[in-house]
Amino acid sequence: MMNIGIMGKIHSDGLDIFKKLGINFFEIDNFEKMFLIDKLKHVDGILLRTAKLDEEILSNCKNLKIVSRHGVGYDNVDSVYLNKNKIALAITGTSNSISVAEHVMTMILNLTKNINKYDRLVKNGNFKKKYELGDFYELYKKKILIMGFGRIGKALAKRCLGFEMDVYVFDPYIEIEEIKKNNCFPIDKNEGFKIADYISIHLPINSDTKNLISTNQFKIFKNNLILINTSRGGIINERALYLALKQNDIYGAGLDVFESEPPDKDNPLLTLENIILTPHNAALTLESRKRMAIEACENIVNFLIKTEKLNLKNIVNYNYI
Ligand SMILES: NC(=O)c1ccc[n+]([C@@H]2O[C@H](COP(=O)([O-])OP(=O)(O)OC[C@H]3O[C@@H](n4cnc5c(N)ncnc54)[C@H](O)[C@@H]3O)[C@@H](O)[C@H]2O)c1
Repeated sequence: MMNIGIMGKIHSDGLDIFKKLGINFFEIDNFEKMFLIDKLKHVDGILLRTAKLDEEILSNCKNLKIVSRHGVGYDNVDSVYLNKNKIALAITGTSNSISVAEHVMTMILNLTKNINKYDRLVKNGNFKKKYELGDFYELYKKKILIMGFGRIGKALAKRCLGFEMDVYVFDPYIEIEEIKKNNCFPIDKNEGFKIADYISIHLPINSDTKNLISTNQFKIFKNNLILINTSRGGIINERALYLALKQNDIYGAGLDVFESEPPDKDNPLLTLENIILTPHNAALTLESRKRMAIEACENIVNFLIKTEKLNLKNIVNYNYI
């Protein structure tokens, strides 16, 4: 009998798939290493949210055949170990790009229109002081540089085009024709840094992208730049970002991801007015959580049916394959 460990809470629509098919599963919400080593030692599959799965834990899972991520990033699992040991890794590629793109638009609009400040002004009885808050702006014809033109980058481009922005894309791994076909302009990274009114980052974190935006880049940016990162903490150097915001070298920033999560309570970014911070929840709308839970469970079922000739009790009713 197959046995699946589910690390972290997922939407019940996903669990219903296992229940319907009679697949054994158990949920874990204690992520201490010794506990995981013991608890996961007999599993055939792991469904993984944000906890860390390192070699020490994985090497004790002698029956493990698949790790299925609830999400698209997989920097919290030792993929080198998985590769070496021919253990499959699945992601929920089609589930969360719309939610993240909408989150970016929300941050962009909020910062551009000073929504938080105006909200406070009205609630504090200062309706008539509206001219004291300074200018706010339109998105129309502004230039956005999207870094990374994968699932989320593309979904964001569509939304920016809806606001009639000029959309520039930096992604050396995507054909120029593909970028043009999507009504965007391909651009070199440094050229993009010079002209952008907005930059939104949609890259994986690795040795090429860590600290991709740091002190030198802040010297190039326009003063009106709004910089958004919903991809992974560490791509923007937080110290350099803090200084740039503090000195008004750029206009504002929005972060959903941090160098360490949660950020330290004395992280100076928490003290600034011109930044919006969200708790790594860009992908966690109800719709997206349902889709991620279903897709992560389907990935396990489909893989085990194909590779292990899994014999399931209600297989005739299973129509996700
Ligand atoms: N905040 C959240 O809740 C949340 C949710 C989903 C995804 N993410 C993160 O968002 C990021 C993007 O996700 P996605 O689904 O669009 O990924 P994706 O794999 O579809 O797209 C990534 C794109 O980046 C490009 N790329 C890779 N390295 C590059 C480099 N050095 N320079 C320029 N381009 C490069 C690739 O060619 C690809 O087109 C990932 O880091 C993911 O972990 C965050």
